[in-house]
Amino acid sequence: MTHKEVRKKFISFYKGKRHVEIPSASLVPENDPTTLFTSSGMQPLVPYLLGEKHPSGTRIVNSQKCFRAQDIDEVGDNRHTTFFEMLGNWSLGDYFKENQLPWFFEFLTDELHLDPKRLYISVFEGNEFVPKDNESIKIWKELFSQVGIEAKEGERIFSYGVDKNWWSRSGTPDKMPPGEPGGPDSEVFYDFGIERKFHENSPWKNKPCHPNCECGRFLEIGNSVFMEYQKQQNGSFKELPQKNVDFGGGLERLVAATNDNPDMFQIDLFSTAIKTLEAITKTPSNYKIHPRPYRIISDHLRAAIFLVDSGVEPSNKLHGYVLRRLIRRAMIQARELGMMGDEWLSNAIPEFISQYSQIYPSVTKNTPEINQVITAEVDKFRKTIDRGLREFEKLKDNQLTGSTAFNLYQSYGFPLEIIKELYLQKGVTLNELEFSEAQKTHANLSRKVTSRLFKGGLVDQSEAVVKLHTATHLLQQALREVLGSHVRQKGSNITAERLRFDFTHPEKISNETIEKIEHLVNKKIDKNLTVSVEIVPLNKAIEEGALTVPGTTYPEQVKVYSIGNFSKEVCGGPHVDFTATIGSFKIVKEEGISQGVRRIYAKVSSDHVNTRKNHAQ
Ligand code: ALA
Repeated sequence: MTHKEVRKKFISFYKGKRHVEIPSASLVPENDPTTLFTSSGMQPLVPYLLGEKHPSGTRIVNSQKCFRAQDIDEVGDNRHTTFFEMLGNWSLGDYFKENQLPWFFEFLTDELHLDPKRLYISVFEGNEFVPKDNESIKIWKELFSQVGIEAKEGERIFSYGVDKNWWSRSGTPDKMPPGEPGGPDSEVFYDFGIERKFHENSPWKNKPCHPNCECGRFLEIGNSVFMEYQKQQNGSFKELPQKNVDFGGGLERLVAATNDNPDMFQIDLFSTAIKTLEAITKTPSNYKIHPRPYRIISDHLRAAIFLVDSGVEPSNKLHGYVLRRLIRRAMIQARELGMMGDEWLSNAIPEFISQYSQIYPSVTKNTPEINQVITAEVDKFRKTIDRGLREFEKLKDNQLTGSTAFNLYQSYGFPLEIIKELYLQKGVTLNELEFSEAQKTHANLSRKVTSRLFKGGLVDQSEAVVKLHTATHLLQQALREVLGSHVRQKGSNITAERLRFDFTHPEKISNETIEKIEHLVNKKIDKNLTVSVEIVPLNKAIEEGALTVPGTTYPEQVKVYSIGNFSKEVCGGPHVDFTATIGSFKIVKEEGISQGVRRIYAKVSSDHVNTRKNHAQ
């Protein structure tokens, strides 16, 4: 089947079960400072899994654009990608295991026509807080017996611990911060029935095969998370007020299963782009002989297209750094295949864009920008590569340590295998242990940086972030009143320490005007306005003058937050109830970030609230 068929079947199937389709959220989450990218379908739904009412009801379905930066180094095998679409269905305190598992089985066998004999199951084996998932085992046994298969434990149904069958955004229960929702899950694997090929050091080399042994025979095609627990301050788990289902299945993996071909890069989404690349190098069928560079180029290019579409530009920090790495790795692989110019970009980018033009029309609209940003980065890197090679040539044999190699990898974007070759050319073997030590040190440092930058967040609904979120709404309205109604939101990012708001405005804002804006926000805070929320159809919200974020696709029913009569915005929340709790508002920086777009950083401080309270007493 094609990816369009599978996506369409999934959405229609769940719509038939009274689910409401919601649009994919942005790949770069707005107002979620805990993460750089949306990496699973549930991420934008966290407040609703915790109990907030969703405007579209209790049964939701969608296809969510996802990006997993942590998988970059795995790309090159037959199954890993950084960007993917996750097909998802959710029960927000509605149905549970008894519907979820039979529906997914029905979808796989009746809609995708997968042979049930090729499906294998895993469930949670239980731990000190949560019992073994015998309910799911019973349901699965019954489902298989209906199609004449005796599903025995240890043969078709396998139980695993928290490493494999527990799901939360932060991973295993010990890694979850207090307040985080999670739960046991049940995964479905497709058996491609291929031979097991192990590296000679693999721990699984002489062990019996099973769905999670990573031998390449099985591919996980869907994960039903029974999200019914919340981590407590003391490390224990409490049941959430509602039992949720959070299902996610990789679109590309499901398509590969329908084709009964374990190579995900052979599905329609990639195969045309790969043929285009083969045509440029005038080597038809080269993919079959050397698949790796083609896979890296196709995955990274597709991901780069979507990141640029989401407003990311290459840089040395955060999102921009990841984008830069993708483009650079893709380019090195293109050079490996002998494509020294830009022809691989001008041919492969339109292939991907045409695949997505209907479902994500913004990629068509943003095509000129996508081409321009990616091509400019490639041109820039061409110079860096040459410089990197020159630097390398200057090195003496006794300087070729693992950390030098890591520097080449880190600073110039050379992949490890190319570095090894360069070392060999000098007659030196790369010390991989030293390299991985250097890599670990770097990763630890990055984590410490990241944890400071992203402390707190909307997701755990920390007080500081919620206050800044309401302050952001006040700021947008104040900007519109002081500067004019041309001001529209271009981006927003809130950490516990500060808000950052990007908006359209053609010129620098004077200090005097900044003070006016600050004063207006503080005036509204002092008035202690009530913050109220209602759920209305999108058309009505727009008619009533609620502000939306240009370029965002909204569902039919939306939440509108009003702050007194001053501000009205379509927004997912959460917000404070009364503005006086925000404290005193201060703009700390104003700058231009691109043509016609300004950025403001602002903070709030509670001292002012206390002062004000004292005055009032
Ligand atoms: N949230 C679950 C996952 O990403 C479904 O696997």
